[in-house]
Amino acid sequence: MTAPANDASKGPQDAMVDTVPSEGGVTREQRNPAVASRERRTTAMSPSGETPYLVVEDLTVQFPTADGLVSAVNGLSYSVPLGRTLSIVGESGSGKSVSSMAVMGLHDRKRTRISGSIRLGGDELVGLSENELMKVRGDAVAMVFQDPQSSLHPLYTVGNQITEAYRVHHKVSKDVAKKRALEMLDLVGIPNPIRRFKQYPHEFSGGMRQRAMIAMGLVNDPKLVIADEPTTALDVTVQAQILDLLNNLQKEFGSAIVLITHDLGVVAEMADDVLVMYAGRCVEYGTAEDVLARPRMPYTWGLLESIPTVSAANERLRPIKGLPPSLLSLPGGCSFNPRCPYADRVKGERCTTDLPDLLRVDGAGAHTSRCHLHDKASIYEAEVAPRLG
Ligand SMILES: Nc1ncnc2c1ncn2[C@@H]1O[C@H](COP(=O)(O)OP(=O)(O)O)[C@@H](O)[C@H]1O
Ligand code: SF4
Ligand SMILES: [Mg+2]
Repeated sequence: MTAPANDASKGPQDAMVDTVPSEGGVTREQRNPAVASRERRTTAMSPSGETPYLVVEDLTVQFPTADGLVSAVNGLSYSVPLGRTLSIVGESGSGKSVSSMAVMGLHDRKRTRISGSIRLGGDELVGLSENELMKVRGDAVAMVFQDPQSSLHPLYTVGNQITEAYRVHHKVSKDVAKKRALEMLDLVGIPNPIRRFKQYPHEFSGGMRQRAMIAMGLVNDPKLVIADEPTTALDVTVQAQILDLLNNLQKEFGSAIVLITHDLGVVAEMADDVLVMYAGRCVEYGTAEDVLARPRMPYTWGLLESIPTVSAANERLRPIKGLPPSLLSLPGGCSFNPRCPYADRVKGERCTTDLPDLLRVDGAGAHTSRCHLHDKASIYEAEVAPRLG
C-alpha cells in the first residue's frame, strides 16, 4: 500500500503538542493558532503510529432544524490503519452513527452541513459527487448496520442480493457472481449455502440475517468496514459468534474496521484503538490498552463503572447520573459538567466556562483526553480503579 499523502502519516515527532491547558477563558487556539493545527494533526494520527488508511480530520456535521442548528459531530479527528479495529463508543445520541454515515457519504446533502476532511487511502471524500461516492461506497467501504432488515430487501432472495452487490462493481457473468456469493455465504458460516442462496431474508434467523448482511458487505473485499452496533439486537451467544466472524474476516481481508458500539464489553473484545464520544465530541482517544486500563476522562470512568458485571462477590452497575445534553443547547465549558462528579475539584469555574482541549495524556504517547483535572492519574488510581475491581 502506498502511504497516504497526509499529515496523519507523519511520525510522532511531528506531532508534539503543547500540553499546557487553556487558562482564563482564552483558548490555546486563540493564544497560538499553530498549536491548534498541530493538535488536530495529533488527534488524527493513529494511536498505534501505523500508516492510516482512513483519516478523519476536524469533521463537523450539522443539521439545520426548525428548532435551531443541531451540531451532531464537532471537530472529530481519528484514523484507522489497515488490519486494525477502532471502536467508537459513547451513549446513545453522542454522534457515533452520524459521524460514520458522513464517512460513507450517506447524509442527505440538502439537509446536512458537513465540513472537515475524510481521506481514504489518501483520497479526499468530502466534496465528491453522489456518483463518485457511490463507487467508493461499494468498492472500498462497506457498512454493516444493527438492523439487517435495513440492508436486505425483503422481496429478493439473499443469494440474488449478494450476487447483484458483486456485479455492480465487477463486470462478470451471473454464474461467476453466483459462485462468489456462495463462497461468501460459506465464509460467513451459513450452513448449506446452496439452499440458503435461494431463500428470502424472512426465512433466516436474526443471527443468520446478520451473517448474510456481512457476506453482502464484504463481497467486494472492502478495505474499510464500518459496523454500527452490529450485534446489539442479537443474543449473547450469537453476538460472540458474529464478533468472532468479523475478527476472522479482518484477518482474511486485512481490512480496517470502525466498530460503533455503546457496549464496553464489545470494545474490550474487539478494539485495537478506542475513541470515546460525548455530545458530538471526542473526549478520549488512544489504544484500547491505554483507554481501558489508564482512562483519563471522568466520562470514560463513568462508562467503565456502569458496565454490569456479575460475580459471586460483587454485582456492580453504577450508571452515570443524568442524561446527555441537548445538542441544540450544549452546556458552557465541558459538555459533561452537569453530570460530572469531579467538576468541583477543578479550580474556579473552568468546567462551566472553558471547553477543555483534547490534550496528550501525561504529555507523551498518542493517548489524548479532554478534561481540566490536573491529577487525573492519581484520582483514577486512588478512587476509580478500586471501584472497578
Ligand atoms: N437528520 C437529523 N436531523 C437532526 N438531528 C439529527 C439527525 N440525525 C441525527 N440527529 C441527531 O444527532 C445526534 C447524534 O445521533 P447519532 O449519531 O445517531 O447518535 P448515536 O451516537 O446514538 O449513534 C442525536 O441527537 C440525533 O437526534
Ligand atoms: S473538564 Fe471538568 S466537568 Fe469536564 S470531565 Fe473534567 S472535571 Fe468533569
Ligand atoms: Mg447510532
